[in-house]
Amino acid sequence: VDKFVDKHELYPQISQAAELLRAGEVVAFPTETVYGLGANAASSAAVKKIFQAKGRPSDNPLIVHIADYDQLGQIAVDIPDVAQTLIERLWPGPLTMVLKKRKNVVCEEVTAGLASVAVRMPAHPVALALIRESGLPLAAPSANRSGKPSPTSAMHVLADLNGKIAGIVDDGPTGIGVESTVLDCTTDIPTILRPGGVTKEELEHLIGRVHVDAALLNEKEKPKAPGMKYTHYAPRAPLTIVEGTSGFLQQLVDEQRALGKKVGVLTTEERQLTYRADAVISCGKRSDLYTVARHLYDALRAFDEAEVDMIYSECFPNHGIGTAIMNRLKKAAGYRVLYEK
Ligand code: TXA
Ligand code: MG
Repeated sequence: VDKFVDKHELYPQISQAAELLRAGEVVAFPTETVYGLGANAASSAAVKKIFQAKGRPSDNPLIVHIADYDQLGQIAVDIPDVAQTLIERLWPGPLTMVLKKRKNVVCEEVTAGLASVAVRMPAHPVALALIRESGLPLAAPSANRSGKPSPTSAMHVLADLNGKIAGIVDDGPTGIGVESTVLDCTTDIPTILRPGGVTKEELEHLIGRVHVDAALLNEKEKPKAPGMKYTHYAPRAPLTIVEGTSGFLQQLVDEQRALGKKVGVLTTEERQLTYRADAVISCGKRSDLYTVARHLYDALRAFDEAEVDMIYSECFPNHGIGTAIMNRLKKAAGYRVLYEK
């Protein structure tokens, strides 16, 4: 990256980044969930650079980020009432809606040839300012190399994409830490394709019944969001989720260390002092799962630095924001879970 600009000069940074975007370059920027890698959603050439920089398969469509409601009308058509309600209540915010695509604005590369388009209005002043200043709808996936944990700081972006993109707008660590919830609004009853920052409970409270894509409940089903089939979020060392007591988890660690392995443990503040291992990393407070969501990817990346051979992770409750945490953790673990007898 040759234009890594100082975060204390926020506004010059945004206008510089906007200029690069208008010139067809790709630039990373913060959102309230994770850092995104943005490009002009109307330009095939610009969007191709995103896929190139990330090493992302071209059949995996991108989310279009907008800053006002007029932009929505330029991108999508036939917006159903439920979507309208959610727009009023939850935008800007970590909710992506899959809607019917309006032809001839967003390029084919963004939607991977689908008739639908995923749209969101991020709740981050820098993201909104960048979209407005560039005057463009921005196609933006998470700004990581494909397969790696999503970036929650500019340093993560730099570690993955240095030399491959035109710049990063740095505004410190992101707040939510897991990606937006992807909700398919083209079905009669909206369907969650990816759990994220907005919980199923919150959606149901606003619009009543909400379905969950079968692939989220059974790993053998084919997911409806193309991106959900790929390995993702994985640290270098193999990760195993442990469902059981900390005593059981410690026993697994001891067995591997006796074999000469360097072992990491992913835990929470409450239990951090109970483990003996080569790297014991806390990802937040179990009593407040939003802190776990915020620090999860940073914790996963920290194991790469600790150079452990394997990682055991604690399990989290599968409701509220815990659903998104467990979804990411299971993918990072390649669905390896060990249960205490
Ligand atoms: O929080 C977020 O959503 C972040 C920030 C940067 O906004 N972005 C993000 O984008 O996570 P990405 O590309 O990493 O994930 C987009 C997900 C993928 O699983 C993709 O398959 C799905 O959304 N998706 C995009 N367009 C779709 C469509 N038309 N139909 C179904 N799924 C779609
Ligand atoms: Mg991603």
